[in-house]
Amino acid sequence: CGIVGYVGAQAALDVVMAGLKRLEYRGYDSAGVAILADGGMAAAKKAGKLANLEKELGDRPLPTGTTGIGHTRWATHGGPTDTNAHPHLDNAGRVAVVHNGIIENFACLRAELAERGHTLASETDTEVVAHLLAEEYSACADPAEAMRLVCRRLEGAFTLVAVHADEPDVVVGARRNSPLVVGVGDGESFLASDVAAFIAHTRSAIELGQDQVVELRRDGVTVTGFDGRPAEVRSYHVDWDASAAEMGGYDYFMLKEIAEQPKAVADTLLGRIDPAGSLTLDEVRIPPRVLREVDKVVVVACGTAFHAGLIAKYAIEHWTRIPCEVELASEFRYRDPILDPRSLVIAISQSGETMDTLMALRHAREQGSRVLAICNTNGSTIPRESDAVLYTRAGPEVAVASTKAFLTQLVACYLVALYLGQVRGTKWGDEIRAVVRDLAEISGAVQRVLETMEPVRELARSLAGKDTVLFLGRHVGYPVALEGALKLKELAYMHAEGFAAGELKHGPIALIEEDLPVVVVVPSPRGRSVLHDKIVSNIQEIRARGARTIVIAEEGDEAVVPYADHLIRVPATPTLLQPLVTTVPLQVFACELATARGNEVDQPRNLAKSVTVE
Ligand code: G6P
Repeated sequence: CGIVGYVGAQAALDVVMAGLKRLEYRGYDSAGVAILADGGMAAAKKAGKLANLEKELGDRPLPTGTTGIGHTRWATHGGPTDTNAHPHLDNAGRVAVVHNGIIENFACLRAELAERGHTLASETDTEVVAHLLAEEYSACADPAEAMRLVCRRLEGAFTLVAVHADEPDVVVGARRNSPLVVGVGDGESFLASDVAAFIAHTRSAIELGQDQVVELRRDGVTVTGFDGRPAEVRSYHVDWDASAAEMGGYDYFMLKEIAEQPKAVADTLLGRIDPAGSLTLDEVRIPPRVLREVDKVVVVACGTAFHAGLIAKYAIEHWTRIPCEVELASEFRYRDPILDPRSLVIAISQSGETMDTLMALRHAREQGSRVLAICNTNGSTIPRESDAVLYTRAGPEVAVASTKAFLTQLVACYLVALYLGQVRGTKWGDEIRAVVRDLAEISGAVQRVLETMEPVRELARSLAGKDTVLFLGRHVGYPVALEGALKLKELAYMHAEGFAAGELKHGPIALIEEDLPVVVVVPSPRGRSVLHDKIVSNIQEIRARGARTIVIAEEGDEAVVPYADHLIRVPATPTLLQPLVTTVPLQVFACELATARGNEVDQPRNLAKSVTVE
């Protein structure tokens, strides 16, 4: 969910709505606002996208006030209805609350409130907070203290922002787990899940820590712990260009983000490998001695980041010879994984706040393992709680389906693999030297792929009426196939599956029927040519059974030509780096198919970009 709070001199509704627009990627099941005006509270909320709320505000305008809060929701408790939308108010309509996360003990708090005569209107866990805040405030008449008292009674992960009609110049916020950032302006203050919400007004930000409460006034902010003790805060300057989060002439953020990939890849490499082959990470709090003794690497991540992890395994094991496992973060801690201080856990997350990944990393640290984060969001929870960080430099990624963040995660994984090799004294043989040279050229290769995408778009449009597309790959091409299928599910809402091409004959080949589109990611014919020959046979096998083959192969690979109904060329790269070029046509393919099917590209149904619940 996305949260915004404002207190200042401007019309709060305008500031809050503009902020919510920037946060809509975090959830778009419903949206709502509450404004303090004329000694009272005015609220509006609507199921569906922000546009529905805008329309509602047009039909029934709210009075003007200079203090307000807003929310854009990804539904957890309670379906995406008007009633369940945030903000939630107490019975007297004096308190309004917005919330991100889950309050685990809400059922018993709700029962308690009902006993004391409160009537709760929604099915959400959030509404109990509005009622509890109203009770506490009437006893202490201090909004921050009321928030602290309530937070101490809540269990689970929650980030809250609230206003009280008796305190027209105050917004209070509380953070446990999901992010909350303060923006400090001149005579105005902001609160949001992401700096993007207030970057048009101020670049000066304060990051709230775990279990902290903030009281926001026009002329400043006060931060305390849940226990009431003053908290130390870290202020920082946001150096994003405000336009980085704008669409800049593209029809969708996704198109813009796909186009930005060459730069994102180059930026992520910038200054990180010197010609002598020495590598640096951003923050390393792991002594080299510990890294030298690592006997197992475990990568944890979700969604697209998980696919980056699957590719990382090939690089890490090949270059360092350390065994590497890759696991979905949501599965990891529940199977009681074998971890000890010699295990290195790598957590990959674009947002740095995915709850599944965060919980996996906490579990790993409890077992004494060190955690290295690969993350795109400076100062977010996952890097804060890790022992080392390598930031990807993709810039803000707004489209829900990840593109440029994925490519930069791959680059970061290669860098980490090389770094581990370096620390452990792996000899830089010719192969690694060549990889480092090729990494320096890879951004140009990605650019060349982007320039040749028109036939891919055409092909995608011609397949808009299909129900199923399959994806095959071997070696690092296998995770690429999984990512291609995920993109298509997310965006085109089509049945799409990725398989290891060698596994085809053990079951999935039964799915092949006349004219079924099958995308095959072909490894380079150079080097590992056995792999290449095997996949050429696989293409023949499916074609013989009627499949329409869409073949992604390196320039100059002639062996595939006779069996490709459609051929997509990518520049030649070393096998391990190939996902950086082969993924791009699959992104374009999914994006175009989604458009052709009339789907919303940036905000696919049911999804959210950062999922801050488990
Ligand atoms: C959500 C998004 C996916 C993303 C995944 C992991 O499910 O819809 O696109 O890959 O979260 O996100 P993270 O921020 O941890 O990389």
